[in-house]
Amino acid sequence: MKINENTLLEGHQVILVPYNIEHVPRYHEWMKSTELQQLTASEPLTLEQEYDMQRSWRDDSDKCTFIILDKRQWADPSVEEERCMIGDVNIFLTNPLDLSLGELEIMIAEPTFRGKGMGKEVTHMMMQFGVAKLNIQKFQVKIGLDNEVSIAMFKKLEFQEVSVCQVFKEVTLEMMVDECVRTKLLNCTSHMKERDYRLSRSRGTVMSQT
Ligand SMILES: CC(C)(COP(=O)(O)OP(=O)(O)OC[C@H]1O[C@@H](n2cnc3c(N)ncnc32)[C@H](O)[C@@H]1OP(=O)(O)O)[C@@H](O)C(=O)NCCC(=O)NCCS
Repeated sequence: MKINENTLLEGHQVILVPYNIEHVPRYHEWMKSTELQQLTASEPLTLEQEYDMQRSWRDDSDKCTFIILDKRQWADPSVEEERCMIGDVNIFLTNPLDLSLGELEIMIAEPTFRGKGMGKEVTHMMMQFGVAKLNIQKFQVKIGLDNEVSIAMFKKLEFQEVSVCQVFKEVTLEMMVDECVRTKLLNCTSHMKERDYRLSRSRGTVMSQT
């Protein structure tokens, strides 16, 4: 999706940036992990296929992807962006007849960054982006039945379980975006700043604007 190609979102602990070609090698390394493949229900790809996937995530109008960066490392301009990467987050418009339905996916790929509140912060930021920029009115998430942490996180975020598919061994959770949800999202992302990603190359400058 082109809508976020120049968008940088700054949170308390994380920075979200568009998924670029420079991110692909690290992303490809992550996805060699059988644990991540299982937790995210992903198939391993060759590096070539991963580049194709990045192009499709960038160009297709039904996919919105951000790479998650650790803000602490990112704030040091001497650290390359690729080294700040800790995961990714997506909204997929899975129903061409209903573009207000957004399927969320999130991965904190680096295990040492899990359990620190980053997953929750990223999900809130992405949901706020989805509501404000993509006009999403219902969020959906499909999670493997074994993925207790992810199920716990989305339940904590007040997603409701709507179905369990024993064949695919996954549970579907949803959240309708009503006025109450909009207000909560606005409140818990009030610290979030949106910037031009192209300026983030001179990160010191961007940070001093805060
Ligand atoms: C699932 C995932 C996104 C959660 O992100 P995270 O940064 O680790 O989670 P947070 O620290 O923000 O915690 C959010 C909530 O998740 C739950 N949680 C986090 N760690 C947990 C653990 N070890 N055990 C049980 N619940 C846990 C809690 O409900 C927590 O809320 P609380 O701290 O207010 O109690 C992350 O662990 C991850 O990406 N795992 C690997 C890939 C994956 O499973 N992706 C999801 C595919 S659907």
